[in-house]
Amino acid sequence: MSYIPERFPRYKDYALPPFPPLKGNISGHLDKIKDFESRDSDIFICTFPKSGTNWINEIVSMISKGRSEYSEVYKNTAMLEALPSFGALHDVPESTTRIINSHLPFADLPSKHIQNGYKVVHFLRNPKDVAVSFYNHLTNIKDFTTMQAPKDYPASWPLYIEHYCRGEEFYGGWFNYEKGFEKAKETGELSNVFTAHYEQLKQDPLPVLRALANFLGVKATDELLEDINERCSFDKMSTVGASEKDDSVIKAMSVTGKNFIFRKGQVGDWKNWFTVAQNEAFDRLIETNMKDSKLKFRYEYIVKD
Ligand code: A3P
Repeated sequence: MSYIPERFPRYKDYALPPFPPLKGNISGHLDKIKDFESRDSDIFICTFPKSGTNWINEIVSMISKGRSEYSEVYKNTAMLEALPSFGALHDVPESTTRIINSHLPFADLPSKHIQNGYKVVHFLRNPKDVAVSFYNHLTNIKDFTTMQAPKDYPASWPLYIEHYCRGEEFYGGWFNYEKGFEKAKETGELSNVFTAHYEQLKQDPLPVLRALANFLGVKATDELLEDINERCSFDKMSTVGASEKDDSVIKAMSVTGKNFIFRKGQVGDWKNWFTVAQNEAFDRLIETNMKDSKLKFRYEYIVKD
């Protein structure tokens, strides 16, 4: 049995967060996402949750504007599965680039966007840090309906990691998500895509930002990219950036009152959580699950001489 309680919405074989539009006619809402009227100027950010979605979203937003200015709203306002209606997105003038995002598996993304080869930015993070970040997120976010702390899940870290290992996670789990994207890139079904890794962006940001600007067709000076990198650092985004965007919504949803979107922002925090045995079991799981995959992940910083 899945560790995710039955009260959470389910689509196909996976559970979803209890976003209001997913609590009624879930298939109807997911069909609307499939039929979403994408534009060729749209940029679609695809991530498994807790992979640094807010970070890459802000970077893409700044690069596409050509200015190191924080966006006014959290990325949630353009997260398709959480939006009750797409009216506000449809009202965005054609001359403005829309930055849309979703954690939905590849198969459930808007058909028009994918078939027409509109831009996709896919951002990945190593699954151990994702697990830790997700666990902390789930323990710190109030139940949307009751606005109370979660009671029956995710229980404890040892239980959580056991279930995570079995792929029992929202959106069908990290392994399915990343394997789905890898396959879509290999088959060419997903063609116009920029792929970057959290660890790479942390370790050596400027080459990633330069390549991203090229992909987005934006002429950006090194000075601008350095400025964007600085404004999008964890320290800046979690203080200045968050307050400019009014993080009161996030804090109201938080059990501890801390912003659960910006927690530590590090590579390798998993070492503070996994026991030796859990880590060995997890490594075996990666080996089995990713045996046909060419994806490689970094689990720590590479210390340069
Ligand atoms: P941690 O919980 O490990 O700190 P998402 O935006 O997909 O929900 O991902 C959240 C994770 O990205 C959190 O990880 C958060 O701290 C991290 N993050 C957010 N902004 C970041 C930034 N500017 N630089 C590095 N990590 C960032």
